[in-house]
Amino acid sequence: MKFFLDTANISEIEEAASWGVLAGVTTNPTLYAREGGKLAEFHDHIVRICEIVDGPVSAETVGLKREEIVAEGVELAALHDNVVVKVPTMPEGLAATRELANRGIKVNMTLCFTVPQALLAARSGAAYVSPFIGRFDDISEDGSEHLANVVAALNNYDFGHDVEVIAASVRHPQHVLQAALIGADIATVPMSTLEKCVKHPLTDRGLEAFLADWEKVKNS
Ligand code: E4P
Repeated sequence: MKFFLDTANISEIEEAASWGVLAGVTTNPTLYAREGGKLAEFHDHIVRICEIVDGPVSAETVGLKREEIVAEGVELAALHDNVVVKVPTMPEGLAATRELANRGIKVNMTLCFTVPQALLAARSGAAYVSPFIGRFDDISEDGSEHLANVVAALNNYDFGHDVEVIAASVRHPQHVLQAALIGADIATVPMSTLEKCVKHPLTDRGLEAFLADWEKVKNS
């Protein structure tokens, strides 16, 4: 499973990229707003991310009509080769995805919760399908079970193009574990979750013991 960072924060992206584990980035309007992002600087911000990350960078459209989504998508895709256009799962989004895919533009279909939605996203030409885990947990449903269903259903078919599943709305390392066991292609995770993924109390304890013992060796 590959790791994408789910953020619009440049420092976080630089830090994760420096670990050598970063395969891509996903952004959304909420994440950009959280950074104090301004509309006039949105495109420059996406380009900056693309220059740091050697992989797909999802930039989300906000139009609700297919023509608007296609126009936004074409503009976003022209910014950098790494840009993947993120489109919400809805009828206008499917139509726009088909049009963008026909033009050779990669789409990440987002806000996907069910198997039928995921199948439609894949049929419309989406290169990435993003089932959300955490938001199911928010309403006391098992998000990982839904993710497992999506992965199993998509694996049943050949869509005539590559479709990768991005486990999204990942909130903690347990979600990462579940996504990996289910066989999601990618997990997109916030920096705080990525940091938690690399840590374990036994790792810390082991390191402390090594350092203490090394002090003894140095002083011997
Ligand atoms: C990523 O593509 C999604 O926009 C993101 O993972 C949503 O996460 P959230 O449910 O924590 O907002």
